[in-house]
Amino acid sequence: MAKKVMITETVLRDANQSLMATRLPYADFADILSTMDKAGYYSVECWGGATFDSCLRYLGEDPWERLRNIKKAMPNTKTQMLLRGQNLLGYKHYHDDVVEKFVELSIKNGIDIIRIFDALNDFRNLETALAAVKKYSKQYQRHVIASGCISYTQSPVHTVEKYVEMCKKLVEMGFETLCLKDMAGTMSPYEAEHLIKGIKAAVGNVPVILHTHCTTGMAYMTITKAIEAGVDVIDCATSCFSNGTSQPATETMYYALNQYGIDCGLDESTINKVNDYFKPIKQKYIDQGTINPKSMQTDSQALVYKVPGGMLSNMIANLKDMNAMDKFDEALKEIPEVRKDLGYPPLVTPLSQMVGNQAVTNVLVGERYKNISNEVKNYFKGDYGIAPAPVNQELQDKILGAGNQPVDCRIEDSKRTGKDFADAKEALGELARSEEDIMSYICYPKQAKEFFEKRKANEENIATYTIEQI
Ligand code: CO
Repeated sequence: MAKKVMITETVLRDANQSLMATRLPYADFADILSTMDKAGYYSVECWGGATFDSCLRYLGEDPWERLRNIKKAMPNTKTQMLLRGQNLLGYKHYHDDVVEKFVELSIKNGIDIIRIFDALNDFRNLETALAAVKKYSKQYQRHVIASGCISYTQSPVHTVEKYVEMCKKLVEMGFETLCLKDMAGTMSPYEAEHLIKGIKAAVGNVPVILHTHCTTGMAYMTITKAIEAGVDVIDCATSCFSNGTSQPATETMYYALNQYGIDCGLDESTINKVNDYFKPIKQKYIDQGTINPKSMQTDSQALVYKVPGGMLSNMIANLKDMNAMDKFDEALKEIPEVRKDLGYPPLVTPLSQMVGNQAVTNVLVGERYKNISNEVKNYFKGDYGIAPAPVNQELQDKILGAGNQPVDCRIEDSKRTGKDFADAKEALGELARSEEDIMSYICYPKQAKEFFEKRKANEENIATYTIEQI
């Protein structure tokens, strides 16, 4: 068993994203940051994922300013973000120069750890971001950690050996730490034990991190087994923002680890203060209906049907819309078939929707792949990267034409034309005040532009008001 296990606190990002659709404004947590800075976390996950989009779209906040403020208030704690490799914070592939600039600006604005993953575990999609972390870490003279992250899933091809190979590859590529990301919370204690043992035996001293969710109710058991097998860092959320679709509770894990004699470096009174601070905030969002009680429950259906909870509720909603709930069982049985034909992609957004919708279509039409969604066609064309296992050849031929191969998305991504920046500058004109503004626009054009327009209008209002006052 490990002698030391460190804890990443996720309340500002994943817990916020999982329980309340990332609607937590900066003002709600600004006052606790200096306390969190004294807690002794391995890191605080506070940026990336959906926070960026939510800041612009719903909260009227500049995401870069949020990051700068967090870092300023937590100078002694590593600030961590989640980055979807070549997709940055969304689902489309960006050109390499955009990815490089995004990483540079993240480092410049205060990020210390960038956890990089790809939905298909196509590691070519991590290369540009990784190289940029190394480059700008040096340039800004800050040690920024690139953490290589694997999207965890179960399938006949996803064996312990395959995951060990993936980890070796990530280390070879130059990642400093490794993370297993179990976004659906379907990793069992048994699987965690064998995976972590296998990985630790293969990669030696490279720190291994486990990220899971309590969705199915297994997370505490899974984490305990992972700790016994030698995991180095676990992701937890302050207890009032834990459980349900979020992470296991920080204080609870602290208590349990303490009894084992495992040091996790946390200060007990500080982590309790953090929880006390967030309690009324959570209550406020329950009262407002922002936190759906459903997200706080345990949902073991994902284990029965082997599909993530979100995908299941999405499918039920679709079938209800079409008055076809009688086809539910059939559609469920169709999911593993579609997934197999697609080469067993991890069921994470957007692939979970893609597989779920195609399964529903196959069942409703009554014939497999008579109608094929554009998303599935694009998947076969190679738009998302390489499938984890060989795809159904017959289906590929049907979509691409016999003998045709998928395109290599990396060729398109690697173009450094500067055009994305030039277009953004032109579209924004004087609304853009910084490189960060330009980047926000490249990532979320509509939301960013609206945000900049409001920002300008607010300032004009304030200016008029001030003059009238004088
Ligand atoms: Co997560």
